[in-house]
Amino acid sequence: MRILVLSGPNLQLLGTREPQRYGSLTLDAIHARLQALGLELAVDVDVGQSNHEGVLVDRIAAASGVYAGIVLNAGAYTHTSIALRDALLAVAIPFVEVHLSNVAARESFRQHSYLSDIAAGVVFGFGAESYSIGLRGLVEKLKG
Ligand code: DQA
Repeated sequence: MRILVLSGPNLQLLGTREPQRYGSLTLDAIHARLQALGLELAVDVDVGQSNHEGVLVDRIAAASGVYAGIVLNAGAYTHTSIALRDALLAVAIPFVEVHLSNVAARESFRQHSYLSDIAAGVVFGFGAESYSIGLRGLVEKLKG
């Protein structure tokens, strides 16, 4: 089973970006943790990040037939992108929406997601652990 972990804009800055909010781990360190967790769960974990909406749409389209599931932190595109929603609906790959911060406790514009209602699950507020919890939950669901 192959799982894609995909992150959106500004998440390449993790480690230095608002560390009080997002923690001090880099995205590379989070990816390494997820790959280790993948070994434990007996799934292959591939990772990706882009700041560009169209690149993320392309990565999702290319995931069809390759990945059993996607762990997605779409960053700010969560709150704006009908294109990402449509890409996820088109491939119909089960995905988990994750966020490091507790988006429900932040600005009102972050409290709407174009993705949550079509996600297999949503995890937010646990820092880097949100990705790990999301990966575990997704694999559990996929293995049924
Ligand atoms: C985020 C939350 C988003 O609102 C924000 O735009 C991000 C990061 C998170 O992981 O907490 O870039 O997705």
